[in-house]
Amino acid sequence: MQQNIRKVAIIGTGLVGSSAAYSILNQGICDELLMIDINTERAVGECLDLSHCIDFTNSRTKVHTATYQELGDVDIVVITAGPPPKPGQTRLDTIGIGAKIMADIIPQIMASGFNGIFLIASNPVDIMTYHVWKLSGLPRNQVIGTGTSLDSSRLKTYLSEILDVDPRSIYGYTMGEHGDSQFAAWSHVTVGGKPLLQIIEEQKDKLGHIDLDQMVEDVKKVGFEILKRKGTTYYGIGNAIAFITKSILNDDHKIIALSCVLDGEYGETDLCTGVPAIITRQGLKEVVELHLTEAEQEKFAHSTNVLRDYMASIGYEKKALELV
Ligand code: LAC
Repeated sequence: MQQNIRKVAIIGTGLVGSSAAYSILNQGICDELLMIDINTERAVGECLDLSHCIDFTNSRTKVHTATYQELGDVDIVVITAGPPPKPGQTRLDTIGIGAKIMADIIPQIMASGFNGIFLIASNPVDIMTYHVWKLSGLPRNQVIGTGTSLDSSRLKTYLSEILDVDPRSIYGYTMGEHGDSQFAAWSHVTVGGKPLLQIIEEQKDKLGHIDLDQMVEDVKKVGFEILKRKGTTYYGIGNAIAFITKSILNDDHKIIALSCVLDGEYGETDLCTGVPAIITRQGLKEVVELHLTEAEQEKFAHSTNVLRDYMASIGYEKKALELV
């Protein structure tokens, strides 16, 4: 009988990596989960604890520690390694240490013969995804980042509370940097197929008070509100990682706001940023190009400019902005 074992590796078994692992195990997303951390004892402890979940789940996922040499036949390598921002820092401030970590681990992973999909969650995620794409030499479809998937979910959470509608019936994205320069593509947010802006217009009495700009600010800041109270965030991003992993392994062709290497889409090349994308077993199938309003296009350009400045700080040449 043909064996088709779905293997996922998680690099970095801190709170983000272990939350992702917990979510993946509970949903029976893969058959084998490999855990690697610079602190090997921590990885062993997580694997032991996680292995004790199996009796209470629906599928027998094997979970164990691994070395980089063992990643040759893994389908997805999730990278969560890296420090969370300290109080007062932005995600971009962790760039130097993140870049060094990637430069250390990616060649070791590639030396194993790995030819699967990288899913990057380490911050600043857009720049780390780009860095992994460059370091790995893999085609762009095989390197994606969690991007603005979590921010889009946060936006939908706020909207669902105001509208009293399940967030899963709301479609819409924040785009650009997973950070302070992101923006909401309000012109494309729909609730049950109906444009949000139209709903607000029609229900001015009830919904006229909604401050959309403030909502985007709240989306940008809420990660730091969590950080202030409990040190870092992990359940939201952990579930985002599990959701993306499941979409890839199931070949779902789901559209998710992810950090993708752009190749002409939105008038940008040689840059990673948050855009809606169709995801399959091969990774990125297609970037969905929304027709943004002029104001949204300007925000997109601003965000990519911010990212290019930071990319330059780790040695990537800053290219002139090309706008559509
Ligand atoms: C957050 C981290 C993952 O926004 O950047 O929660």
